[in-house]
Amino acid sequence: MQAAGRAVKSGARRLLGRAGFDIVRSGDNRGGVDDFLPFEPTMRAARASGLSVGDHIDTVMNGTPGATQSTIDELRALGVYADRPASVLEIGPGSGRYLEKTLKECSPDRYEIYETAAPWAGYLVETFGVIARPTAGCSLAPTPDATVDLVQAHKVFNTVTFLCASRYFFEMARVTRPGGRIVFDVMTETCLDPDAVRTWATQGGEGHGSYPAAMPRRACVDLFATLGCTLEAGFLAPMGVATTEVLVFRKAG
Ligand SMILES: C[S@@+](CC[C@H](N)C(=O)[O-])C[C@H]1O[C@@H](n2cnc3c(N)ncnc32)[C@H](O)[C@@H]1O
Repeated sequence: MQAAGRAVKSGARRLLGRAGFDIVRSGDNRGGVDDFLPFEPTMRAARASGLSVGDHIDTVMNGTPGATQSTIDELRALGVYADRPASVLEIGPGSGRYLEKTLKECSPDRYEIYETAAPWAGYLVETFGVIARPTAGCSLAPTPDATVDLVQAHKVFNTVTFLCASRYFFEMARVTRPGGRIVFDVMTETCLDPDAVRTWATQGGEGHGSYPAAMPRRACVDLFATLGCTLEAGFLAPMGVATTEVLVFRKAG
């Protein structure tokens, strides 16, 4: 019995690793995800591999070298960095693999993060000089209305509950400046054709209560439209054994 439990745990750890998880137990990550990617061993492994921690996660842990950079490249091609966003806010940056590359793209004056994993948040503050905001539930309350040029979250909304993601959506629209952009990925129906569902069912491992979470595309598009944000583009990015869809919204200027 104990051996079976250990096997399940180590299977879950492998799966969480593949998904790039850096999760500590948060009220919104359901299913007892206390088996998070620990800060120290991950940093040690990254150092040993001679890669940045982000590239280590892409290459060694997720088996998708260049995945983070390819999302950044797509966003650049869509013009997301063209206006040189001066303020960026990221929800759930974890190890900072998107954060580091976003900083290179646009050198914002202010970069705020909302991250429940304290060791990673501390590391990002020290390494990149970002501002860690108190993170409770799914609120961006410390950030005033209409103050951020680019609000983003990567590989977060497929790991939290529907309620948490939805509440963050309202907050993202609130803090975005007119003309600003909102970028996040979700596992929409675009990512869930029968082959993909079969892959998840047969190779998706144990998962946990809120991973992998699906989110209807239309629910996002229609909701953001009511908040003055129009969908500009969507593209697929690798996630776990399949994909998520990255959605790019612009708030009316
Ligand atoms: C799967 S990881 C993705 C990390 C990073 N964005 C990446 O792609 O490597 C999800 C991240 O969201 C964080 N997280 C979970 N619940 C959160 C919440 N309610 N608010 C903010 N961050 C949260 C986790 O600690 C973790 O760092």
